[in-house]
Amino acid sequence: MRSVKEQEEELFPSTPGKVKIERAHGINRQFHRCFASTSTMFLWALFLITLTASYLSFQSFVSTSSRFLSSSAWDRQIRESAAPVRSQGLSVLVTGAAGFVGSHCSLALRKRGDGVVGLDNFNSYYDPSLKRARQALLSRSSIFVVDGDLNDRRLLSKLFSLAPFSHVLHLAAQAGVRYAVENPSSYVHSNIAGLVALLEAARSADPQPAVIWASSSSVYGLNDKSPFSESDRTDRPASLYAATKKAGEAITHTYNHIYGLSITGLRFFTVYGPMGRPDMAYFSFTKAILAGKPITIYRGKNRADLARDFTYIDDIVRGCIASLDTAGESTGTGGKKSGPAPYRIFNLGNTSPVTVPTLVSILEKHLRLKAKKKLVEMPGNGDVPFTHANISLAMAELGYKPTTNLETGLKKFVKWYLSYYGHSRGRKTNL
Ligand SMILES: NC(=O)c1ccc[n+]([C@@H]2O[C@H](COP(=O)([O-])OP(=O)(O)OC[C@H]3O[C@@H](n4cnc5c(N)ncnc54)[C@H](O)[C@@H]3O)[C@@H](O)[C@H]2O)c1
Repeated sequence: MRSVKEQEEELFPSTPGKVKIERAHGINRQFHRCFASTSTMFLWALFLITLTASYLSFQSFVSTSSRFLSSSAWDRQIRESAAPVRSQGLSVLVTGAAGFVGSHCSLALRKRGDGVVGLDNFNSYYDPSLKRARQALLSRSSIFVVDGDLNDRRLLSKLFSLAPFSHVLHLAAQAGVRYAVENPSSYVHSNIAGLVALLEAARSADPQPAVIWASSSSVYGLNDKSPFSESDRTDRPASLYAATKKAGEAITHTYNHIYGLSITGLRFFTVYGPMGRPDMAYFSFTKAILAGKPITIYRGKNRADLARDFTYIDDIVRGCIASLDTAGESTGTGGKKSGPAPYRIFNLGNTSPVTVPTLVSILEKHLRLKAKKKLVEMPGNGDVPFTHANISLAMAELGYKPTTNLETGLKKFVKWYLSYYGHSRGRKTNL
């Protein structure tokens, strides 16, 4: 029989190294036990997180679906909004309907008795409350605007299954040239992936709609031949925005070629007017002048003033509607083309470029205030020195004829701005 001392020796031997090893083994065992239970806990935690995430995504799927896939009230709103109220009227899906050009076009189409359903994701590229205000205005004309993204393919196919749209007026996009430096992926999301999702839905729809969509004057990029004609080079974009619009022209051509979609691409030249875009110079200058803040005016090489072919919104709306009215039919069914369909591209501009300092002096006159100007050399972030549209093709084929000069157009814009934001700068009054 071993003495207590021997037993103690065995448990706690006198050799220091041994003690360390034995103790270390004990600690190790404890550590392993502890680690085993920690890893079990970790696995459980992971399992619970996965379960919660699946539940939440299922919930969001159910709520998204129920928002538009299982509500008969929602279906009815789409059908009613899409139905024309005049004989031979069009039924148009307007993407970007809560945007500047989209809201104006939707109202004009509705006014003449066409059916209009809007689609917009109300993103916060600029103040979404302005988009909501436009939506409220459309709603007063019985135009339903669906709150959804172009990339939501289920939503798009649901819309096409509910309403036999004769036309799509595709205006949704990530606009703006300089923002691409900050958020390039938003251009890919809306202008490339979103465009393809829309074209996929349109080519599968029965009937296939004619697609009229907004390209941009920015596709002319570094072209220095003036005025810009549709046949000029467009392979030297100066910004990612321009590159995505150029890509859009190639992508729409493919859908025209393979699936027989009727395509009309419209190259808008600097559109301005009431309910316009806060990110554009005429809008932000107005805000700054009223607030007594300085405005930055860019200059090109050798201090040359920048110039734009500013085009009033009502002229653009007439160009869009003429494009809808003259678009030939798509020729595909069930995703297969049965013959060639039209593929058209038009400039929609004003044909009289105005320099930015002249724009500022017109604003000063209408606002009855002097601007504090800061002249700065144009940074190389996507802007081009001038734009100038040749519109002979649109004149010949669409009967397009701009009628509003910058002086008159800015007067209307300033009137709207003052009534919308009120004199206390930033406070909104009703539209
Ligand atoms: N205003 C101009 O000077 C001008 C010039 C050339 C081309 N364009 C083009 O004309 C079209 C209309 O421009 P705008 O000035 O009305 O711009 P806008 O930003 O006011 O309108 C675009 C609308 O599209 C929506 N949108 C963006 N991405 C979307 C997505 N993935 N899904 C659903 N909705 C989405 C936005 O919320 C916005 O309301 C755009 O395609 C633009 O690139 C405009």
